[in-house]
Amino acid sequence: MKERTIKIVDDANGLSYTLPVENGTIRAMDLRQIKTGPDDFGLMTYDPAFTNTASCRSAITYIDGERGILQYRGYPIETLAEHCTFLEVAYLLIFGELPTQSELNTWVFDITHHTMLHETVKKFMEGFRYNAHPMGMLVSTIAALSTIYPESKNIFDAATRKHQLLRLIGKMPTIAAYTYRHQLGLPYVYPDNDLSYTENFMNMLWKMVEPKYQANSVMARALDILFILHADHEQNCSTNTMRCVGSAQTDPFLSTAAAAAALAGPLHGGANEAVLTMLDEIGSKDKVPAYVKKIKEGHGKLMGFGHRVYKNYDPRAKIIKWTAEQVFEITGRNAKLDIALELERIALQDEYFIQRKLYPNVDFYSGIIYQAMGFKPEMFTVLFAIPRTAGWLAQWQEMITDPEQKISRPRQVYVGENMRQFVPLAERGTAVRR
Ligand code: CMC
Repeated sequence: MKERTIKIVDDANGLSYTLPVENGTIRAMDLRQIKTGPDDFGLMTYDPAFTNTASCRSAITYIDGERGILQYRGYPIETLAEHCTFLEVAYLLIFGELPTQSELNTWVFDITHHTMLHETVKKFMEGFRYNAHPMGMLVSTIAALSTIYPESKNIFDAATRKHQLLRLIGKMPTIAAYTYRHQLGLPYVYPDNDLSYTENFMNMLWKMVEPKYQANSVMARALDILFILHADHEQNCSTNTMRCVGSAQTDPFLSTAAAAAALAGPLHGGANEAVLTMLDEIGSKDKVPAYVKKIKEGHGKLMGFGHRVYKNYDPRAKIIKWTAEQVFEITGRNAKLDIALELERIALQDEYFIQRKLYPNVDFYSGIIYQAMGFKPEMFTVLFAIPRTAGWLAQWQEMITDPEQKISRPRQVYVGENMRQFVPLAERGTAVRR
């Protein structure tokens, strides 16, 4: 819908251009007509890190960063976390509507029946070194699935696409649990179809010799809520990677592997692991003021703080704090929580953090819960990747079916040398290394 127009006057020649504004954006390609002469390529925008560029039109996730609002398909995250299961939310993200009871039954049945890994994938995973980082194992194994399901390349067939969605959502907990067991030198546990998504995940993580694993229902629900909170977050780094790699018509397994690789970075999903390292480094509550002072002097960042979009309290962090209390009633309180609470208290009243609108984000408290549940910090980002797979796939499917989308290919501003005189090797003399 056309909202208004905007007039741009080129001071170089006095020419003026009227551009339509739609949904608060101008089309970057409309700028191309602004030229200083026939040989001019036309005006482009320069936006390193896409801080002010919309790369797509999406109907999946809405964030109002100033007001701390997050909605999936129009439903507030708080409502979904309170009333839904993760698989219900995954359905909502992918298909756009909450499922009816019979749709949900079919969806859960289908996902449950795609949790097994091909035995060759199990063997592939066994080949990793005993101390391999679980994220490295996860990324490689998702990519390896592409070799098992070559038909996944058929991305324009809706039925084939749906089959791969079921496989990816179904198999992520299995791969994740195997990375965990691998590090501990424990045999991998096969999925149990009688259990819910998170109970089955817990079964594959923690079953020992008992004939049937009994999941603690509070822990299973807490994991489910954490999965809901992490399921999507519009055009973040990993989702942008999923769309970018997918735009080359790469199959969904390879695209998801690429997205998971992006998630692994400490500025993105790797932040939850970095928060625990930071809390360990701080050591005790009384050391918090000195640590905050060090950060303000430019020595590092407060991990789990700040966000590109949220300039207010991350709504997910609030729900995580509440979930933490439920988990601690079962597991006992994680002593790191006191350091984290003190860090939050001091930071939120400090001018440095107030001015820059830096608030705790989703990663600040999630690691503390995961640690109380018995996970090592290396597993935290893997736990993030399981539910985010639903978001990546919803975004990928939206991109594949959007007629406006093409292969992702940004422009650049070239600042290098031009048309240099070539000097043959023998005549180059002594090199001066730069
Ligand atoms: N601690 C201290 N200062 C910070 C922090 C922080 N965590 N985050 C931003 N700043 C400062 C930054 O130095 C800059 O200051 P100045 O204006 O003086 O140069 C100002 O705040 C603006 O920050 P920015 O780096 O321009 O913001 P950005 O939008 O590029 O970065 C961010 C967003 C999330 C990468 C960043 O806040 C950060 O590195 N946070 C720590 C890592 C983290 O918790 N990441 C998880 C993000 S949420 C979940 C997810 O995406 O996976």
